[in-house]
Amino acid sequence: MVNKVKGTYDILSEDIKIWHFLEQKIKEVTKKYNYTEIRTPIMEYSNVFHRESEQSDMVLKETYNFKDKGNRDLTLRPEGTAGVIRSYVENKTYATSDLYKVYYVGPMFRYERPQKGRYRQFHQFGCEAIGYKNPLLDAEVIKLASDFVKAIGLKNVIVEVNSLGDSESRENYYKALKEYLIPFKDELSNDSKDRLERNPLRILDSKDKKDIEIVKNAPKPIDYLSKESKKYFEDTIKYLEIMDVKYSINNKLVRGLDYYSEVVFEILADLKNFGSQNALGGGGRYENLVNELGGPKTSAIGFSFGIDRLILAIKEEEIQLEDNDSLDAYVIMFSENELDYGLNIINELRSNNLLVDFDFKTRSFRNQLRRALNNNSKYLIIIGDNEKNNNLVTLKNTITEEEETINKDLLIDKLKEGLK
Ligand code: HAM
Repeated sequence: MVNKVKGTYDILSEDIKIWHFLEQKIKEVTKKYNYTEIRTPIMEYSNVFHRESEQSDMVLKETYNFKDKGNRDLTLRPEGTAGVIRSYVENKTYATSDLYKVYYVGPMFRYERPQKGRYRQFHQFGCEAIGYKNPLLDAEVIKLASDFVKAIGLKNVIVEVNSLGDSESRENYYKALKEYLIPFKDELSNDSKDRLERNPLRILDSKDKKDIEIVKNAPKPIDYLSKESKKYFEDTIKYLEIMDVKYSINNKLVRGLDYYSEVVFEILADLKNFGSQNALGGGGRYENLVNELGGPKTSAIGFSFGIDRLILAIKEEEIQLEDNDSLDAYVIMFSENELDYGLNIINELRSNNLLVDFDFKTRSFRNQLRRALNNNSKYLIIIGDNEKNNNLVTLKNTITEEEETINKDLLIDKLKEGLK
């Protein structure tokens, strides 16, 4: 037997229903906010993600990197933002649009330790608004993300916001944080020791018990914000209030990628049985990515949701989806003799956009009936000798159990009438 790759999974028909539901909601919500879809490649040249400024564990340790036959360095995308910005720069989109609002849906790849809610191939729905630095836009993007979770029916969700500030604020903060952490150096977890030089901010959201104890009294980014960043954050909060977004401020919130500055946010599942991977989505403002990938200095903000985790949350909250999987009619034929007559009818029904199926092996009536009911068919169309020889069909409503034998030419009108 050949197995699936560790950390991947098959999306089977019971979950496809939830996928279609989410895809529909993504289309509806993004349309309301005037975002259009973008589809970028799954593989990019490695330097789209591996940039000098990006020292996050995720990019340094978890990306799938390989050489193609032309000896080029490629990486499977671990996230959507960098590819979107590569496209924005390469297509010179900045020349024609001062605010570019796009969304994407697709698979991402990270070599992580798999567990519930954490996979090596997972899927994101993300939005990026590229071009403006304006707290009103930050608030609108957070509103879009919280509208989306509302639209899919999730109730136990928390929106957390924080500010990392501009580069001046972050420099001051890094200094203060390092000064605070150095005396604890020997007590920190190995990962955090490693981060102390490279990326001290990440120590703030370490899951290690001892680290958590140590950072309890660490300085907070919010206390080191420059005057401008403080005002920017306050204005964002003001607009969030006006837009009626339910949020809480989490001064310890930092993100897993290094490109953020100013406002950052996360959407968390607040469910008992959800497990540790409870971040449904997250995002924030990033100011240097366009420039680093060869474009003009341009500020942007975005977020992405993990679709796999949204599906876990939908299941956990037992959200009932509309069932539109049922067939309009199932055609039951008594024997091979009725096959040509039956197939003609099936063709005609399908040409009229009716959802129809039948049994490829003519089995007993009982077996065919069971299949019809398993497919939630609303009608049975029963064809025997009598029907075939007299241009008739027997139509049975599976819910009311009403049954009548009618002329075949009336079938489509009758069915459409009954399905209304
Ligand atoms: P991120 O926080 O790394 O941000 O990922 C966003 C979401 O993707 C997470 O909240 C989580 O739901 C999901 N996710 C991440 N890793 C996994 C995994 N291994 N298995 C399952 N789900 C996962 C970003 O990727 C940024 N690009 C978001 C952004 C867009 N920032 C600005 N624009």
